[in-house]
Amino acid sequence: MANSQRKILVTSALPYANGPIHLGHMLEYIQTDIWSRFQKLRGHECHYICADDAHGTPIMLKAQQMGIAPEEMIAQVQKEHEKDFADFNIQFDNFHSTHSDENRELASQIYIKLRDAGYIKTKTISQLFDPEKSMFLPDRFVKGTCPRCKSEDQYGDNCDNCGATYSTTDLINPKSAVSGATPVMKDTEHFFFDLPAFEGMLKEWINSGSLQQEMANKLGEWFEQGLQQWDISRDAPYFGFEIPDAPGKFFYVWLDAPIGYMGSFKNLCDKRDDLNFDDFWSKDSTAEVYHFIGKDIVYFHSLFWPAMLEGAGLRKPTSVYAHGYVTVNGAKMSKSKGTFIKARTYLDNLDPEYLRYYYAAKLSSRIDDLDLNLEDFAQRVNSDLVGKLVNLASRTAGFISKRFDGKLAKINDTSLTTSFLAKQESIANFYETREYGKAMREIMTLADIANAYVADSAPWQLIKEDDKQEEAHQVCSNALNLFRILVTYLKPVLPKLAQDVEAFLQMELTWDNLDIDLAGHEIAKFKALMQRVEMKSIEAIIEASTENLQVTAEPEVKAEVKSPLEQDPISDEISFDDFAKIDLRIARIAKAEHVKEANKLLRLELDLGGETKQVFAGIKSAYAPEDLEGKLTVMVANLAPRQMRFGVSEGMVLAAGPGGKDLWIMEPHEGAQPGMKVK
Ligand code: MSP
Ligand code: ZN
Repeated sequence: MANSQRKILVTSALPYANGPIHLGHMLEYIQTDIWSRFQKLRGHECHYICADDAHGTPIMLKAQQMGIAPEEMIAQVQKEHEKDFADFNIQFDNFHSTHSDENRELASQIYIKLRDAGYIKTKTISQLFDPEKSMFLPDRFVKGTCPRCKSEDQYGDNCDNCGATYSTTDLINPKSAVSGATPVMKDTEHFFFDLPAFEGMLKEWINSGSLQQEMANKLGEWFEQGLQQWDISRDAPYFGFEIPDAPGKFFYVWLDAPIGYMGSFKNLCDKRDDLNFDDFWSKDSTAEVYHFIGKDIVYFHSLFWPAMLEGAGLRKPTSVYAHGYVTVNGAKMSKSKGTFIKARTYLDNLDPEYLRYYYAAKLSSRIDDLDLNLEDFAQRVNSDLVGKLVNLASRTAGFISKRFDGKLAKINDTSLTTSFLAKQESIANFYETREYGKAMREIMTLADIANAYVADSAPWQLIKEDDKQEEAHQVCSNALNLFRILVTYLKPVLPKLAQDVEAFLQMELTWDNLDIDLAGHEIAKFKALMQRVEMKSIEAIIEASTENLQVTAEPEVKAEVKSPLEQDPISDEISFDDFAKIDLRIARIAKAEHVKEANKLLRLELDLGGETKQVFAGIKSAYAPEDLEGKLTVMVANLAPRQMRFGVSEGMVLAAGPGGKDLWIMEPHEGAQPGMKVK
């Protein structure tokens, strides 16, 4: 080992506990997991920590909508998240929740330190209040008419139509998105964290050189705009931690969320004798702490968080690494295009190692967005992993088992092996600096060289000639040795493949034994290691992701607004004008039938009072076709026809309900007539 052992704590951002993990999220967990596995592979002490982010208004309201306690909902979601991550081979050392005793205690301690040091101010502010729900309304939960362009149904903080940003109180004719009531202004005392007091420290921290250039630039802009006092309290009802000295006031979710990194680590330390919390978090800690995050939450991690730590007398992160956003097929992930892909939908259809490799191949240390182009994905995986990597073993291993008792010959291609081993420092350096794409290219170049060697040596020819047996043995052994080196290099990216190869080669793959001598080593019988990606699996994913939306379930609760300057880039909101374009009609289901090969779809013939349209609808889980005939539904009549695998779909039907078995379509009754306009 070139370096001495480092002590490292690494985190990924804590996913909100009110929704499923999707492939956008997965970029971050895969990026961090590769980095953490790489550090471990190199023999360093590295702990990878995460948790669910369980607090806040959206989570409280979502649980209310579901009619369950928030504790119950977040426990349920946490289980699903953990399963998704485990199935993607994300190896957390601990996964916890921000709604935990450890976090409550740490949040209180940090708050009290900040308060006692004079960094907490109070101020009475006037805020919109929902008199029906008796709650203050976050900006996202107020809708009304834009004060500038007068377009209706705009959010409380900015207008989708003209892009104006304004204060919620300027909204014309505001309505609570929770109850529909007209909000009233109400005074309330809030607690503020004195961010401007840390400007000098933050500037110094940023210039210490370990932040990405793009992030340092962004921070420069924020300093120019001037730092503001940060509002860290919310009034009851709120799902979170009550502020110790202020009954009825709660910590804003973004106060205790980053403390959740510590809370989860504390939880791990309590389970392990060899780990000491203060070794990592005390002011004089020599351990390294890294946060991997998406570009939308830079503000919180590079300004509020280091300032809070400094103010509470704790160490600051060694660095914060931001990545860009995932787009699918060149566009924002979209539910209507079927590209808003849940982790679970992917896992139901494809091997997680494929996505790990594809993301690795496209990742760099920069904050650029990353496109998951599904065709390119299939091609890249098939050509690199199946065609180049696995092929090396599948073309040579059989001969070793059949002809040479499963034993390897002494490696005699020293120049090839040496050139492969010579790349280890540059590949390690690419991993260390998060230039995974460069690492993958380097490794695949080596795979090309190894394949050319096998093709030139043609062991399948040699094996047929009596006097070439020794040579055939050597060529196959050399090839498998090169294969071993490549799989070791890829082990952080492809942990499952590496595990299978370890079973096949009957040895552990570590960076330390890269230059091991394999003469006489016995290997197991070769089993197929990886299948090609089939386009039909990708089609199935798109289909399943598209169908999810055909059913419009509960009104969606939007996530908490994130950075003051950047909004969640994946939102499927439409403007009122867009909505007005939708032609909604009552339709009578004239005919309904099963579609062969489709799990969720039924084929419907819809009578619009004269006109008949064919629609494929994802409502099979709720209805047998015979129960549908004669019933009424609402259909989007002017949706562009879409070619599906089974035929053309000429619209979309709407149904209400939680999904699954409970979906409701109207019984015919007086008043509603086929063809009638709905709005
Ligand atoms: N709960 C906060 C983080 C608190 S950390 C103390 C949050 N949660 S999130 O579920 O919305 O996002 C979790 C992480 O996934 C964030 O780093 C976010 O940037 C990342 N991503 C969410 N959607 C993404 C893409 N489409 N593409 C890439 N990363 C994405 O923010
Ligand atoms: Zn406007």
